[in-house]
Amino acid sequence: MPDRILVCVAWPYANYLLHVGQAAGAYLPADIFARYQRLAGNEVAMVSGSDCHGTPITVAADKEGVEPRVIVDRYHAKIVEVWERLGITFDLYTTTLTANHYETTQDIFLRLLERGLLYKHSQDQLFDPQAGRFLPDRYVEGTCPLCGYREARGDQCDSCGKMLDAIDLIEPRSRMTGARPEVRQSEHFFLKLTALEAQLREWASKQAHWRRNVLNFTLGMLDEGLQDRAITRDISWGVPVPVAGYEDKRIYVWFDAVIGYLSATKEWAASKGDPEAWKPFWLDPATRSYYFIGKDNIAFHTVIWPAMLAGYGDLNLPYDVPANQYVNYSAGQKQSKSKGTGTWMLDLLDAYSPDTVRFYLTTIMPETSDSEFREDELIRTNNDVLIATWGNLANRVIAMVHRNFEGSVPAPAALSPESTALVDEARRAFDTVGAEYGACRFRNALNEALKLAQAANKYLDDRAPWKAVKTDREHAGETLAVALNVINALKVLLHPVVPFSTAQLHADLAQGGTVLDQGWQYRPVAPGTQLPPPRPLYTKIESLPAEVAG
Ligand code: MF3
Ligand code: ZN
Repeated sequence: MPDRILVCVAWPYANYLLHVGQAAGAYLPADIFARYQRLAGNEVAMVSGSDCHGTPITVAADKEGVEPRVIVDRYHAKIVEVWERLGITFDLYTTTLTANHYETTQDIFLRLLERGLLYKHSQDQLFDPQAGRFLPDRYVEGTCPLCGYREARGDQCDSCGKMLDAIDLIEPRSRMTGARPEVRQSEHFFLKLTALEAQLREWASKQAHWRRNVLNFTLGMLDEGLQDRAITRDISWGVPVPVAGYEDKRIYVWFDAVIGYLSATKEWAASKGDPEAWKPFWLDPATRSYYFIGKDNIAFHTVIWPAMLAGYGDLNLPYDVPANQYVNYSAGQKQSKSKGTGTWMLDLLDAYSPDTVRFYLTTIMPETSDSEFREDELIRTNNDVLIATWGNLANRVIAMVHRNFEGSVPAPAALSPESTALVDEARRAFDTVGAEYGACRFRNALNEALKLAQAANKYLDDRAPWKAVKTDREHAGETLAVALNVINALKVLLHPVVPFSTAQLHADLAQGGTVLDQGWQYRPVAPGTQLPPPRPLYTKIESLPAEVAG
């Protein structure tokens, strides 16, 4: 029985270009995972979309003097371009602006209201008398009450890094008009997290398979005790509150964004002509859902969203939330103008092939601690690992089959012990590498696969078929046939990380269909198969000018 797996990926705000940290921290891990699960024969839906509401969008729109939609349309298109060029295989990448998303959000809101998990409460809030409106936290600045920094934002102080409440700022000013805001009362809906706390603690304490830091953070938050949270705002950009008297308010962006996982699954089902297909993904408790996010979003995925789901009832809570740490950029790298700047994905993809980028980003995935992006390291990894360990292996062997066997895969009469040992290792790799992919340890998965490539290189060096062919053609033929089989295995093992080049190799090994059709299994290349002329899988990159690499 195949497993059913829902792959959820954080919804990027549609007001900036995607950077390397997001790709290495969430989108690439999710894609590698989804590709592995599909190869393993499991049923997968991978969904996300652009997060289009919230003050990040309206601040950007105000700055340019345009409607929020203009900002959203521009950046959504750029984000989708990254998915296409980097090979991120969403089953659906949508936005939070669809009618389906609004309906799904309002449905959840109303059910929680009906169940007594939402309530109205008036709170003090800053009001701009000149603009005649309440100010979202990000629209206020003033002096930080904690450290005295004078330019603190209402939601956060960039000097001491602490989260703030705009109402606590000293000498607050409106960022819209510069006016001094007044304190006025405003009524909002609150999510009764206090009522769900015990249930969440019981659930979270059973998630022994979560990453240590994710589990500790979550249990720590629950131990400190939850507070009810306002889930509406005094703004005009967002999902309307489906309650009379709330026409001037909107649902808070985080409340609607997490619902995107559910609404997107529904949209995906409808778009493939099977509107009920979302149900097993959310209603069958055997389905496993994975949420690929950065560490700054853990609370929303392990506490708030599970609370909303538990309150709604029937819907699956997250199975795993493999949150990543951050990718830092070394200062010198940011300055690089000669190649990609190294920080924006589109620039990086202008400079390098997608598989080079994917391979390097996999080696620096911040799975357990922060990591560092360096363009000179990307180049070194491409040349000294991707090509030296793997690309050359495939090319050398195919070239030798052409040079010595007219491109026809040799048929060994028998296998020597070292050939059998290598084949066994290749068969076993499907278990070891698969286990690492399945557990979201992508760096390990790649390392395990590369170990097999190293073993194959050693096998070739030991048996030197380029020499043996002159004296013992059978010996050389056996070596090349076994090496081809191992390469055909590595093609599958590495496919989730470097899908473009391994798809090319699949054709170059004259294998029918696609890598996905072959699936997660060892399959020898049939003796007598006629291979097309070899093509290089990767291109060596000249190193960066010294002042950039330094
Ligand atoms: N837009 C948020 C951010 O960039 C992430 C939202 S993930 C969500 O931080 F799906 F939960 F909304
Ligand atoms: Zn401060």
